Amino acid sequence: SSLTIGLIPADGIGKEVIPAARQVLEALPSDLMPAKIQFEDLDAGFELFQKTGTALPEETIQALKGHCDGALFGAVSSPSHKVAGYSSPIVGLRKKLDLYANVRPVLSAAGAKTASGKTRPIDMLIIRENTECLYIKDEELLTDKDGHKYAVAKRKITEFASKRAGQMAFTMALQRDAMRREVTLGERIWKHKPKVTIVHKSNVLSITDGLWRETVREVYESNSEFVKSVDIEEQLVDSMVYRMFREPEAFDVIVAPNMYGDIISDGAAALVGSLGLVPSANVGENFAVGEPVHGSAPDIAGKNIANPIAAIRSAAMLLENKGYNAAASAVYRAADKVLASGKYLTPDLGGNAKTTEVTEAVCREL
Ligand code: NAI
Ligand code: MG
Repeated sequence: SSLTIGLIPADGIGKEVIPAARQVLEALPSDLMPAKIQFEDLDAGFELFQKTGTALPEETIQALKGHCDGALFGAVSSPSHKVAGYSSPIVGLRKKLDLYANVRPVLSAAGAKTASGKTRPIDMLIIRENTECLYIKDEELLTDKDGHKYAVAKRKITEFASKRAGQMAFTMALQRDAMRREVTLGERIWKHKPKVTIVHKSNVLSITDGLWRETVREVYESNSEFVKSVDIEEQLVDSMVYRMFREPEAFDVIVAPNMYGDIISDGAAALVGSLGLVPSANVGENFAVGEPVHGSAPDIAGKNIANPIAAIRSAAMLLENKGYNAAASAVYRAADKVLASGKYLTPDLGGNAKTTEVTEAVCREL
């Protein structure tokens, strides 16, 4: 059998970390990875837009929909100001392929220090709704009768999308015991009954976040397996950030609307040491796109110092999504071992290893 993976490095360090992930996949021995992996290079990104006027070419979408089983996406350099005709290709891809959940495991790793210089055991799985909320980008700049500018953005929450995200969160909470890998020197971090924390702010946004909260709760209450085997709690998004920094070990699975999930997961990355460590997968009914959580990091692009671990772990998430669990675990373990050795740390983790050195070390572990 074979597995066809579309590779979309896009911009900045995406061009360095996606080739690193490919190199690791190619290093997988056949006893761990029974299917032959075929790669297909695909275009997208802001740099492509500047050259051609298109950020997400139709050929890329057709290739993904047509003959790819999954994809790896690097990062895009989306500008902070409005550029006529441009819209983010990863946001477009999520929509076109209906990748309705962004799954982000945040795991502490031996050898990697946190922002505060400490290492704490952290094993969270953030499920971020991926299709709506404020990111529908329904914004308008207006002028009032006195000539003052004001801007309005619509936020959309549907029962349909909230249900899918909730279903994914409880299902993954149950699967997690089976999936959970021994990340730090063989010790399992979360030792309690699976738990899902629903994040919202329905004390203020009682209609939109109210619908989100009620829908996710209904998913739980209408499934006796969930009620029996998973604990549930709620947390307002602001105190969620506070608690997450004070007691990250208190969280298992976290489910959040799009924008809260985006913010929480970057914050969670600081807890485990670097954005360069945190992978994600954009998951739909029958397609998945692995994507490091970080952006295109223009400040370090082109220097061969980007941390490739987030992209390598994203490749492992893609393997796991496709059912190649042995191969996925081997990649996770190889990355953990390289981090734990302390010999191959990129500058974001306080070392001076090159992207290519870290990648080669992971390949040797395999
Ligand atoms: P960023 O994630 O690119 O960088 C934030 C900081 O983390 C920088 O100091 C960077 O050097 C560091 N960093 C990120 N990834 C790293 C890695 N693998 N190894 C070592 N250090 C790493 O976020 P920023 O600076 O806010 O955005 C830069 C550009 O990336 C923007 O144009 C933004 O729109 C885009 N972006 C794209 C995303 C995507 O493609 N999904 C997500 C976030 C931002
Ligand atoms: Mg983000």
